[in-house]
Amino acid sequence: MSDPKTIGVGLIGMGVVGEGVVQLLQERSDHFKSARGVDLVLKRVAVRDISKPRDVELPTGVLTDDANVVIEDPEVRIVIENMGGLEPAGEFCLRALQAGKDLVTANKALLAEQGGDLFDAAARHNADIAYEASVCGGIPIIRSLTDGLVANRIESMYGILNGTTNYILTKMTDKGGEFDSILRQAQDLGFAEADPTMDIDGTDAAQKLSLLSRIAFHTALPPNLILKEGISHISPLDIDFAKELGYTIKLLAIAKSKAGRIEARVHPSLVPSGALLANIKDEFNAVEIVGSAVGPQVLYGRGAGQLPTASAVVSDLVDLAERRLTRNGPSRSPLSVLPPSAPIPPEEIETSFYCRFTVYDRPGVLAHIARIFSEVGISIATVIQQGRSETEEGTVPLIITTHKAKEASMRSAVDEINNLDVITRKPQIIRIEQL
Ligand code: HSE
Repeated sequence: MSDPKTIGVGLIGMGVVGEGVVQLLQERSDHFKSARGVDLVLKRVAVRDISKPRDVELPTGVLTDDANVVIEDPEVRIVIENMGGLEPAGEFCLRALQAGKDLVTANKALLAEQGGDLFDAAARHNADIAYEASVCGGIPIIRSLTDGLVANRIESMYGILNGTTNYILTKMTDKGGEFDSILRQAQDLGFAEADPTMDIDGTDAAQKLSLLSRIAFHTALPPNLILKEGISHISPLDIDFAKELGYTIKLLAIAKSKAGRIEARVHPSLVPSGALLANIKDEFNAVEIVGSAVGPQVLYGRGAGQLPTASAVVSDLVDLAERRLTRNGPSRSPLSVLPPSAPIPPEEIETSFYCRFTVYDRPGVLAHIARIFSEVGISIATVIQQGRSETEEGTVPLIITTHKAKEASMRSAVDEINNLDVITRKPQIIRIEQL
């Protein structure tokens, strides 16, 4: 290979992941030069506090406390945004793109909120945005969709895209325990954020699903239009009944192409316990992609953490640098500029359901509930009623699973059942995915 060509890199924000990026750039520099022909040189790194001790060494003069220095340095060709949050990260990213620099970011919340403006700016200024690290950390899912599977129409994706919720559900399944106490343990062990709201309520997974759908289906689904439910209402009873029925509960992010429209949803799901995705444990992530030519494929790995995330950032850097140096142009911009589009309305989605009703144990209760299901055209698949004790005296859990039914039909049946005087608590409804 001819002599490697130099490309200047700037980093805005050097937290844990930023230090991982610097470490990998230093460790793998010779390989990038010899195998890929690129010499990635870190020219500028903006941090809040220059005097803070760091785990990595940088040449003198690289550190600055002014992000403008990174953006305005003519030798910086690619900017890595590693600040997180919406502002001022969004402003810095926009200005870097407007200056014609390529951008690497792991900031899925920023892409979800301001992706339209950023992708527009990239297209207008002949720049590129790479965001492998924003979805599933170290798993090369975006690269697989854009490059490895380019010959396929993507038919569907099923993902465990959030490590926090997968950790909690795994512990509830394998060790037992209530959601709240396991969340606290996860926080103590560093597997959940101090404020895990966006993980627990499905927002993080919906943002990731939106980014994956952009690439897989060439559609810009705003994350707030994706059907979304979190896991805080899942109880040990549901975990146990799911097991009894042969299922494991997972927070799934699902997107499917259906006659030109996209079905997209994030919610807890009962999946068959033998399925690959049911056996993705702890904080790990996995995505099953079904391509028109390859059929199903599963990618599995760490969705967060210093070096897994840095691995994805550096992979983007090498890719962008190569494109700039060999073709002098961005690659993805035509794909990036997409008008927002709505997914299939939730009411039209069809799935099977697991329903747990808390009912007084009296003659006729099951018949009454079954009649309401039959009136809205929902076919019952299984029924379990056992004399398990609950807090209210005289009530039992009644578990009904259904065959496939429209979401709208299930909602109207549940509204009616909820009004019965034999029901003592809000019914628990969880969708079933056969995978
Ligand atoms: N908080 C995310 C998770 C990792 O729990 O998977 C970053 O996207």
